[in-house]
Amino acid sequence: MTDNPLFEVDFEPVGRRVEVPPGADLLDAARQAGIGLASVCGGEGTCGRCRVVMMSGKVSEPVDADRRFLSQLEINAGHRLACRVRVHSDVKVHVPKASLVTDQRLQIGGLARALTVESAIKACVVEAEPPTLRDLRSDLERVTDAVESAYGLRHVTAEPAVIRQLSPTAREHKWSLTAFLHAREIVGFAAPTRRPVGFAVDLGTTKIAGFLVDLETGADLASGGLMNPQISYGEDVISRLVYAGRGPTAAAEIREVVIEGLNNLIASLCEQAGVDKLEVAEACIVGNTAMHHLLLGLPTRQLSVAPFVAASNAAVDVRARDLGLDIAPGAYVHVPPCVGGFVGADHVAMILACDLDKGDRVAVGVDIGTNTEIALCKPGLAYLTSASCASGPAFEGAHIKDGMRAASGAIEAVRITADGPQIKTIGDAPAVGICGSGIIDAVAALHGAGLLNHRGRLVPGGPGLRPGPKGLEYPLALAPQTGIDRDVVITQGDINEIQLAKGAIQTGLEILLESTGTPPEAVDELIVAGAFGSFLNLDSALDIGLLPRLPRAKYSQVGNAAGVGAKALLLSLKERTRAQKIARRTSYIELTTFPGFQRRFALSMWFPTGDRRVREDA
Ligand code: FES
Repeated sequence: MTDNPLFEVDFEPVGRRVEVPPGADLLDAARQAGIGLASVCGGEGTCGRCRVVMMSGKVSEPVDADRRFLSQLEINAGHRLACRVRVHSDVKVHVPKASLVTDQRLQIGGLARALTVESAIKACVVEAEPPTLRDLRSDLERVTDAVESAYGLRHVTAEPAVIRQLSPTAREHKWSLTAFLHAREIVGFAAPTRRPVGFAVDLGTTKIAGFLVDLETGADLASGGLMNPQISYGEDVISRLVYAGRGPTAAAEIREVVIEGLNNLIASLCEQAGVDKLEVAEACIVGNTAMHHLLLGLPTRQLSVAPFVAASNAAVDVRARDLGLDIAPGAYVHVPPCVGGFVGADHVAMILACDLDKGDRVAVGVDIGTNTEIALCKPGLAYLTSASCASGPAFEGAHIKDGMRAASGAIEAVRITADGPQIKTIGDAPAVGICGSGIIDAVAALHGAGLLNHRGRLVPGGPGLRPGPKGLEYPLALAPQTGIDRDVVITQGDINEIQLAKGAIQTGLEILLESTGTPPEAVDELIVAGAFGSFLNLDSALDIGLLPRLPRAKYSQVGNAAGVGAKALLLSLKERTRAQKIARRTSYIELTTFPGFQRRFALSMWFPTGDRRVREDA
């Protein structure tokens, strides 16, 4: 050990190896190896999601957290929580598929929207005179003179980083090139035939969706998504803010991982679209207030504790290179305004994409995620009203015994028939867990089959129910049919988690309707946005009371509306002005201070009985 102070950690079956100092924990080693190990609690030992199996080597003894989540049999077989394991020799570790957060089905698209393109970037075709002994103007002067005379501009400038690109590019293209102009500043150069490209991003707590668009025509060039790599620092925003609050090094670390993710996304989208990343002349990034602060490196401590105050809600244009984004050397990133609390620019983008600010109908937009944001508009109301519900990551499969995200092998749909459960998995792969839409389906099916009462208790003696280590459970798939050599089950504890999540959203919706004097039947349109919302079985959501029982024709599932809004904000200065107005005109209700919140929330956790809402018959 003295000869070699580092130990090798070999992660199988992915085959990644890293070297770590003695005593390092396995979760950190996995992060270092770039392995997306699930870690809902950010490594606090409280979520039980970072399970691994020790194959060889010496590590620390199991601790209480291991015993809380693992049976003695599992511990004897080498199962451990990665965040609780300290490495004391070279080790080999098996990472079960269900512990990985990669390979997720990422819904990134959304409703199409007509838009007049009016971007902040103007492409100027430059035909400059090459230098001669009689014309000794500098490269920059030569190009700015050409731009000014061709486009009737004055005082065109460029930063040194852009000038560094100019000299070789101009000579390569014989002084015929395209300059990308942002107001009167050149932010980049490209070959004469090239057009400016923009990068729009919906920076979600769990997922990142990115879009490359043509800044002149608005055409989509490429799109893609990835898991937010900050997940390994905690799945909810508070865990990440707390991590960032440990000090400047931690804040920089959590910022850098997301920048690295964005740079990887840019590189892959540019490859898909056949464009050079230096042709990406502007970006627009929307996210909730926490994502916004972590991205911009703003102070986060005041945002992580009540009353959850932002350091700034204002829209800002920052240099991409100051953030570490690898695009045109002088390019800016437009970050639209946030509303308040955790209601951020992604919510503004969703309102904009769904035209909720037009006030031409009574409409409610619900963007379901780890935090669920709801907005309500109605004719005659000067303000839009919004609220944010801490719905938690249960719909992402977190805090659910066999929960997982929507990846291959996740149970996504469930029916219960006289012959028992019928399931559908993503990719028709053997079941390895259950994702959000499957959990809601399972809860609705159990309730519909009379196996679950309206208070959310599994009914003892019900067909198919059996005792589990922590109360009753219902097997959805038995070991021989699963990909994990054990049954996939839904437990009483899982149902309680879903009750908390659905109760939070139902309460938020009810308070928003009531505080604006809007009876549910007056709602003309209820828009369900967000990746999870687009896979949600509406019938099941209505059956468990997650969403109000309105005629189905009033519902629309629009996918990633925040991403669509981000693209609109990238492509149109008018839409940016509109976003400013939306942020100013949106009043934000702090749900927890609403009279009777606790009682409402408690009642909202119950399930509807018959056609009536529980609250009405309670
Ligand atoms: S228990 Fe290990 S990350 Fe949560």
